[in-house]
Amino acid sequence: MKRALKLWLKRLQFHTPLRRRMVHRYDYFFWPAELAFLCEAMEQSVKDGGAVLEVGCAQGATTVFLNNHLTWAQRYHGLRQEVDYACLDTFSGFLPEHASYEQKHRGKASVAYDAYQFNSPEWFKYMLAINDVTRVQVHQGDAARFDYGRLGPIAFCLLDVDLYLPTLAALPRIYEQLRPGGLIVVDDCAPDQIYDGARQAYVEFCAKLGRETDIQHRKFGLLGKPVV
Ligand SMILES: C[S@@+](CC[C@H](N)C(=O)[O-])C[C@H]1O[C@@H](n2cnc3c(N)ncnc32)[C@H](O)[C@@H]1O
Repeated sequence: MKRALKLWLKRLQFHTPLRRRMVHRYDYFFWPAELAFLCEAMEQSVKDGGAVLEVGCAQGATTVFLNNHLTWAQRYHGLRQEVDYACLDTFSGFLPEHASYEQKHRGKASVAYDAYQFNSPEWFKYMLAINDVTRVQVHQGDAARFDYGRLGPIAFCLLDVDLYLPTLAALPRIYEQLRPGGLIVVDDCAPDQIYDGARQAYVEFCAKLGRETDIQHRKFGLLGKPVV
């Protein structure tokens, strides 16, 4: 009887706007091959120690995916280290001065000031808890100003804040904290698209270091720190 009632309620929900919540949706910003690349690159990077840092984590879909990969690697793939994993986001979207720079100085009229505003550290922590992700430290702040020294040596960083100014300011700070052999992956390094500010910042920072750019999977800008 209870089961029949549950089924009936489910069927009823399907005839309401709630049905969007009832069925599976692919909710990643990355293609499967890109997620696979991130998993592999992260696993290789943390083998010799250091933390994982994700800057610009939005609702946490990639956070959960990468954390599940770390757990799998620790259980079944010979990864011996405990890995610290830090997430940094404003949790209120782009800062107005960063978005307006895109509009005024980079001709990106359609960069939305209000994208990603519906989020909060509390929601993010709740999301981590219901996905049994326990290793993540959540930090709220501006990628351009955050004190990355608090995190200790970084082995792998996914930098995904889309726009020119925060990417340009964050890159040298994160690079300074990157351990030799570590890797930064900058998302949105494909040319000629609305969020190509990240690409411009990546290209400029590589030039400043006297390094060649290395863009893989069409939009991942890679920057490793040489082992001296
Ligand atoms: C494209 S989303 C990140 C998507 C996420 N990497 C994923 O795979 O689900 C961009 C995120 O960057 C954050 N963000 C934008 N500007 C930022 C800044 N200056 N500092 C920190 N986070 C920022 C936004 O709040 C948003 O959550």
